[in-house]
Amino acid sequence: MSRKSSGFVPTMGALHEGHLTLMRQARSENDIVIVSIFVNPTQFNDAVDLEKYPRTFERDCELLKNAQIDALFAPDADEIYPTPMDTIIDVPLLSKGLIGKLRPGHFQGMASVVTKLLNIAQADRAYFGEKDYQQLAIIKRMVFDLNIPSEIIGVPIVREADGLAMSSRNMRLSSKERAAAPIIYKTMERALNKHTLGETSVNALIEFITDEISAEPLATIKSIDIVDAENLQPMTIINRPAALLLNVQFGDVILIDQSII
Ligand code: PAJ
Repeated sequence: MSRKSSGFVPTMGALHEGHLTLMRQARSENDIVIVSIFVNPTQFNDAVDLEKYPRTFERDCELLKNAQIDALFAPDADEIYPTPMDTIIDVPLLSKGLIGKLRPGHFQGMASVVTKLLNIAQADRAYFGEKDYQQLAIIKRMVFDLNIPSEIIGVPIVREADGLAMSSRNMRLSSKERAAAPIIYKTMERALNKHTLGETSVNALIEFITDEISAEPLATIKSIDIVDAENLQPMTIINRPAALLLNVQFGDVILIDQSII
């Protein structure tokens, strides 16, 4: 009998259709699908964010019953960190800017736990969302640099009907904030449209997005960047594939979104 292939989908739980889409793709490409749920404390640079991160394990298990997965790995923090790690995975060129600036230490914690999870799962393929664009770029680079034998597969963003990118954090929005949050996607679409009509200046596009989102009183812009889609370095003129990356805060929740230009 030939060896069975396996696909791995790491998550922090509070599962939604974005996570389930990753699992469906893993299901369609592998014989065995493994999912993990672990709210990794070391990637939270803010204790309040960690405490308030939604934990809906019973509901997650219900959703997973219909997701046709083969195994769920849901460890305690003690199992992943029997003693504090003395090893840190750092991918500094890709980690220091963008979200790395807003959340110091976040990407070291993320890269370290993803390395552990990939080593534990030993899967042929591992699936990550393009919503977390910088995270995906860091994981691809680290897997390449460290010869981790899992192929990393990026899956496009899954959105709500009104365009809001699905996120476990969306359930922490008040109803007013939830109603206002699609401004992120709408503005991104309008900026892409401007680019299609000929605008190639990064500054002009960022100014446009800043003006549009600032008009929404519930939204606070944390960062708007347009960077080289490959190496995430800053650019001034869009003359090659670029990534538009947005971090916008509603209440105490920071929402992220991205689009390739
Ligand atoms: P979490 O936020 O739970 O996301 C798990 C995976 O689902 C990530 O790869 C993320 O990019 C993807 N995902 C989330 N929302 C999505 C959406 N709307 N469309 C497509 N994919 C989406 O990201 C993490 O957990 C953690 O950092 C983790 C990688 C598990 C390490 O702790």
